[in-house]
Amino acid sequence: MKTPFAQRFAHITSSSLSYILKAPMQPDVISFAGGLPATELFPLEDLRAASERVLGARGQVALQYGSTIGYQPLRELLVGEMARRGVRCSTEQIILTSGSQQALDLLARSFLDPGDTVITESPTYLTAIRVFQSCEARFVLAPTDGEGIIPEALPELIERFRPKILYTIPNFQNPSGITLAEPRRKAIAQLAAQYGVLIVEDDPYGQLRYAGNDIPPVKAYDEANQIAYVSTFSKTVAPGLRVGWVVATPETVEKLVVMKQVADTMSSTLDQRMVYEYLRTGENAAHVERIRTAYRERYRVMDAALREYMPEGFSWTKPEGGMFLWVTGPEGLDAAELLRVALEHRVLFVPGQDFFPDGSGGRHFRLSFSNTVPERIREGIRILAALCHAQSAALASGSSR
Ligand SMILES: Cc1ncc(COP(=O)(O)O)c(C=O)c1O
Repeated sequence: MKTPFAQRFAHITSSSLSYILKAPMQPDVISFAGGLPATELFPLEDLRAASERVLGARGQVALQYGSTIGYQPLRELLVGEMARRGVRCSTEQIILTSGSQQALDLLARSFLDPGDTVITESPTYLTAIRVFQSCEARFVLAPTDGEGIIPEALPELIERFRPKILYTIPNFQNPSGITLAEPRRKAIAQLAAQYGVLIVEDDPYGQLRYAGNDIPPVKAYDEANQIAYVSTFSKTVAPGLRVGWVVATPETVEKLVVMKQVADTMSSTLDQRMVYEYLRTGENAAHVERIRTAYRERYRVMDAALREYMPEGFSWTKPEGGMFLWVTGPEGLDAAELLRVALEHRVLFVPGQDFFPDGSGGRHFRLSFSNTVPERIREGIRILAALCHAQSAALASGSSR
């Protein structure tokens, strides 16, 4: 007899991600699937120089265990970075994590008991869904429009479902590319304070704006200390380094430290020191500018190709930054089925179903433009659009299923 796996797996829905992440490794595949930064633009030389400095004079220390809360100089540097983003905080409010993914996991495990409710945007980041599912949370989907969560809809939902957490990705949201409007940020911060709901503000993409003006984080309006702000160097430096962080109250940070000790003792000292050495020189500003410019162009090419090739009945969002846009097809479209066919044509994307906890959302799909060069974007959209034509025609004739 085999040992049964834990019950919590029963709560975690499957996603297309596992096979999607393998496919971009194959050179003939055009992948609009993963939220991957442009590989060829990583600041390799600067990081090599940073790693040499880290492993140079006092290299031994960088290989030793470090503190669970994270490398002090990097936490201090982040106080300045947060001020630049519009958030005043102290070092003791910051914990470094193994990517922002771990930050989400630690926050969820620190606040959620089985059966607790989380309000999320609909759609929302697929791996955050899985984090909350692994804590056996219940989901309530907040109504959203082109400016993000609609705050007026929240009081009724909060009073009815008594959520512990409201999870939001305010900038160039994953997957929709939508940005939460500034007045809504204030309103949501006020509601969280009024009702005692913890806002988990997940901001991996805010630095990747290529149009419009920066908007302060929701955390900038956090008068009641009800917001845990999460960010990462995955999209602005490199995800392989696995350096993310949380800004929260010192009490919350203490709890996160306990959870992190249980999870992995500490994040890589080497990675944290490398990131610090690299950032300290100020070279990252030019790098971020380079990737912003590249993503602006890639987005422009994707939008133009969609306009040129996509059939009637399909629309898509117009993000001002980040890595994604969100396509909505005609009623009845099954994006998972579209992906199955697209795979045969060596084109990949993520079907909408992955971004809703209840598996709805089949008429949508997410396209990422950051990791594909412009010529391949055009070619991939041309192929995908032909498949969308075929699906639409089948739907119109009633023979799609
Ligand atoms: C919204 C969102 N949150 C968190 C993450 C996790 O990023 P990382 O763990 O690499 O910092 C991602 C990655 O794609 C994301 O899109």
